[in-house]
Amino acid sequence: MFFQFVCCFMVVWLIPASDAESCTALPPVDNSIFFAKEVEGQILGTYLCIRGFHLVGEKTLFCNASKQWNASTPTCHLGHCPDPVLVNGEFSSSGPVNVRDKITFKCNEHYLLKGSNWSQCLENHTWVPPFPVCKSRDCGPPENPAHGYFEGRDFNSGSTITYYCEERYRLVGAQDRQCVDGEWDSGLPVCESIQEAPQTEFEKALLAFQESKELCQAIEIFMQRLKENGLTMEKLKYFLGMKKAELEEKMLP
Ligand SMILES: *[C@@H]1O[C@H](CO)[C@@H](O)[C@H](O)[C@H]1NC(C)=O
Ligand SMILES: *[C@@H]1O[C@H](CO)[C@@H](O)[C@H](O)[C@H]1NC(C)=O
Ligand SMILES: *[C@@H]1O[C@H](CO)[C@@H](O)[C@H](O)[C@H]1NC(C)=O
Ligand SMILES: *[C@@H]1O[C@H](CO)[C@@H](O)[C@H](O)[C@H]1NC(C)=O
Repeated sequence: MFFQFVCCFMVVWLIPASDAESCTALPPVDNSIFFAKEVEGQILGTYLCIRGFHLVGEKTLFCNASKQWNASTPTCHLGHCPDPVLVNGEFSSSGPVNVRDKITFKCNEHYLLKGSNWSQCLENHTWVPPFPVCKSRDCGPPENPAHGYFEGRDFNSGSTITYYCEERYRLVGAQDRQCVDGEWDSGLPVCESIQEAPQTEFEKALLAFQESKELCQAIEIFMQRLKENGLTMEKLKYFLGMKKAELEEKMLP
């Protein structure tokens, strides 16, 4: 083991000097300690920032087959832990961060804090618990169910939208959804197809007949329907006979 100490930068080689020299020299990193050691035949270098500084970049480098370090050297920045960040909010902090410093977080208006409202800088240069995030209290544009749509133009916190389905579809789920603190209070409803009793080709043809306004046209459409469906007069007679029997049965007291 040997040491090398340049102002504010200490290098510790935990390997024979001859091996260490086989990899290209490292540029010194201010306010850091560098450890090099052999792990499974490979030389690994680790940078640690001294107290009051935190690392930005790759912490561990390794000396590859062409005797070069696989990444560029990191840097040590002022502050024992990384600078706090909170998008759409603010935190209590003054000057460089020291070990055991505690900060508190607050979100801007219309934003909701998700996570812890405080964090502390630990000895190992990390913040615990992790930083929270500020989430908008408003909702994004809602989705439409297949065969359905919603009415309502306001997606702000407290707003309500209403869902409708197309004809022949029935709504299953909540018809109204309210935006509560950035999330819709219920799931997306679905539009379910209304199952109709299966119709025979004759019934469809009859329906077409009933829907036609003019008698001549109605007969024409009816005959056309029968032809299209490959139905013969025999089958029609049989079907009408069945219908007649059905009706007679209903008429019986
Ligand atoms: C070693 O690392 C350097 C720098 O990242 C790279 O240019 C080179 O190709 C690497 N050599 C091998 C053998 O991986
Ligand atoms: C360099 O090697 C170390 C150790 O294997 C690895 O953790 C790191 O991700 C590597 N960096 C790059 C930029 O490849
Ligand atoms: C942080 O949250 C706690 C409850 O989880 C609350 O009692 C406390 O007042 C909050 N502190 C700040 C500074 O908002
Ligand atoms: C730092 O220390 C804390 C508490 O001892 C631990 O929970 C956390 O995992 C450590 N973080 C890292 C990156 O080592």
